[in-house]
Amino acid sequence: MNAGVVGIGRYLPENIVTNADLEKKMDTSDEWIRTRTGIEERRIADDDIDTSDMAYRAAKAAMKDANISPEEIGLILVATVTPDAPFPSVSCRIQEKLGAVNAAAMDISAACAGFMYGMVTAKQFVESGTYKYVLVVGVEKLSKITDWDDRGTAVLFGDGAGAAVIGQVSDNRGILAFELGADGTGGKFLYQDEYIIMNGREVFKFAVRQMGESSVNVLAKAGLTKEDVDMLIPHQANIRIMEASRERLELPLEKMSKTVHKYGNTSAASIPISIVEELENGKIKDDDVIVMVGFGGGLTWGAIALRWGK
Ligand SMILES: CC(C)(COP(=O)(O)OP(=O)(O)OC[C@H]1O[C@@H](n2cnc3c(N)ncnc32)[C@H](O)[C@@H]1OP(=O)(O)O)[C@@H](O)C(=O)NCCC(=O)NCCS
Repeated sequence: MNAGVVGIGRYLPENIVTNADLEKKMDTSDEWIRTRTGIEERRIADDDIDTSDMAYRAAKAAMKDANISPEEIGLILVATVTPDAPFPSVSCRIQEKLGAVNAAAMDISAACAGFMYGMVTAKQFVESGTYKYVLVVGVEKLSKITDWDDRGTAVLFGDGAGAAVIGQVSDNRGILAFELGADGTGGKFLYQDEYIIMNGREVFKFAVRQMGESSVNVLAKAGLTKEDVDMLIPHQANIRIMEASRERLELPLEKMSKTVHKYGNTSAASIPISIVEELENGKIKDDDVIVMVGFGGGLTWGAIALRWGK
């Protein structure tokens, strides 16, 4: 039995904050942000939209795409570091709203690698035959833990949600291989006190190395080569980090998904948001090989090689 994506959706807040808007609030410039990060604008959720509201909307879209009813979901996994409150979990909150009465529910804390952790966990439950469908959501309202007086972090992040329904897909499709990892010794480089605290240079060095290595490892585990890759979906943290993984896989520009310029770093949401974008652009087709790779606070990382299609 192969687990794969049988439905996918996303939600992005309407409110756009451009680099020019940030120039008015802090000592920064559009030029600095663009050249260092590739970010041009990000979405920031209104005060009355919390993490679970975004998660719910993305989940609804994914379930519609999968054409399943809420009762068919066996497990809800929500990857987030910005829950509405420590408990009840975001997954329980959306379980109620969705009416997923047969689903167990739990949140996953693996920062920007959270969606990779969620998908791999879902795969275990689907392939063991335990649950027919697992709903995986990556969602963040990072704006509520951003220190708007710290220009070193405030320019990087955005809010949003992406969701996927994981279920059985046909032979040769679905998740072909994965790699997950963690290194708690690097926790000091990126963490939340009241707000996000980051040592940008250390995170950058780690990310460039890990994104490249995990992409190569996951392809090897799947028995594939660089030439087999149709689309690389890197965590959208910073264009220079994303470029490093693309170069490591020796892929042309058009084979790497880029949404960071529009949405900034949406942490656990960035990979599913980008998949939806590429589907809408017609750049992911059935039987395409996709490599997803993420890294984040913890430190954590994860990569998945997947053949697209039900
Ligand atoms: C944060 C990051 C963009 C900084 O880029 P960088 O090339 O390392 O920046 P530099 O160290 O060359 O420059 C830092 C300088 O810019 C200044 N600076 C920082 N933020 C700024 C901003 N928004 N606008 C203008 N100047 C800024 C700093 O004060 C510093 O000035 P100084 O040298 O006078 O002290 C980069 O380190 C990065 O992307 N790291 C990874 C972050 C990440 O992805 N985190 C999320 C992980 S999921």
